[in-house]
Amino acid sequence: MENNIDSLKGKVALITGAAHRIGATTARKLHAAGANIVLHYNASKIAAEALQLELNSKRSKSAHIVQGDLLDFNNLSGIINESVSEWNRLDILINNASTFYPTPVGVVEERAWDDLMGSNLKAPFFLAQSAARHLKQYNGCIVNIVDIHADRPLKLYSVYSIAKAGLVMLTKAMASELSPEVRVNAVAPGAILWPEHELDAAVKERIISRTLLKRQGSPHDIANAILFLVKDAGYISGQVLTVDGGRSINS
Ligand SMILES: NC(=O)c1ccc[n+]([C@@H]2O[C@H](COP(=O)([O-])OP(=O)(O)OC[C@H]3O[C@@H](n4cnc5c(N)ncnc54)[C@H](OP(=O)(O)O)[C@@H]3O)[C@@H](O)[C@H]2O)c1
Repeated sequence: MENNIDSLKGKVALITGAAHRIGATTARKLHAAGANIVLHYNASKIAAEALQLELNSKRSKSAHIVQGDLLDFNNLSGIINESVSEWNRLDILINNASTFYPTPVGVVEERAWDDLMGSNLKAPFFLAQSAARHLKQYNGCIVNIVDIHADRPLKLYSVYSIAKAGLVMLTKAMASELSPEVRVNAVAPGAILWPEHELDAAVKERIISRTLLKRQGSPHDIANAILFLVKDAGYISGQVLTVDGGRSINS
């Protein structure tokens, strides 16, 4: 059976954490492919509004913003409801929002656990659960942004690594449970953008030296993989697409 998935025109995509970096690049990419975009943000109101303006100036009334702290459980179904109400449908959910910082075993506090698990695992689950019936209606899809460290722990980042490993299982479990109407996949980035907190130049060099392609990736590499899974992968579900310049080949 041939799927009519060559264009995202008329479809609606919600991207969490869309004001900056990979989320913003993904929003621009899906928008350029024709989708109407719901830009979710938490603290980055000014950046989200600027991106909304940018997208709307390219195509009138094609971008909407929705605010919400994903750690507040009561916000999650509201974010989905607001996303649906703008265009009366939801076709695509991109679980991109995340927190990332070290949690050396021995000094981890419950607050860090709740934050890292909340943004990287709990919120994606409950957003997907709330979105499911809307996505089913239009044979929609979910893309979860995981990490190569879901497979192999990043030293000193155990809680983040555990959360992303959970998000990989969420991807497979939801792919199974929401089938056949909804496809659920994940993209696993390697070194794309350095974290906002300072990282030693030598550490950056070591990370890049372990890629096969000997360079850092760009947010476009991730957005292209997401676009592929959303638009051209009608027979792919429950999979993780690794975009890491070949880094995971090296131990
Ligand atoms: N950067 C990389 O090289 C890399 C590598 C591997 C995996 N990844 C994954 O790729 C995705 C995007 O990475 P990134 O570096 O672009 O992300 P990021 O800049 O670290 O975070 C994206 C957004 O997440 C939002 N966020 C965090 N906590 C939130 C909360 N409690 N409620 C609502 N929003 C919250 C923030 O929104 P506001 O600013 O609006 O508060 C933030 O702008 C993430 O899932 C990340 O784990 C990235």
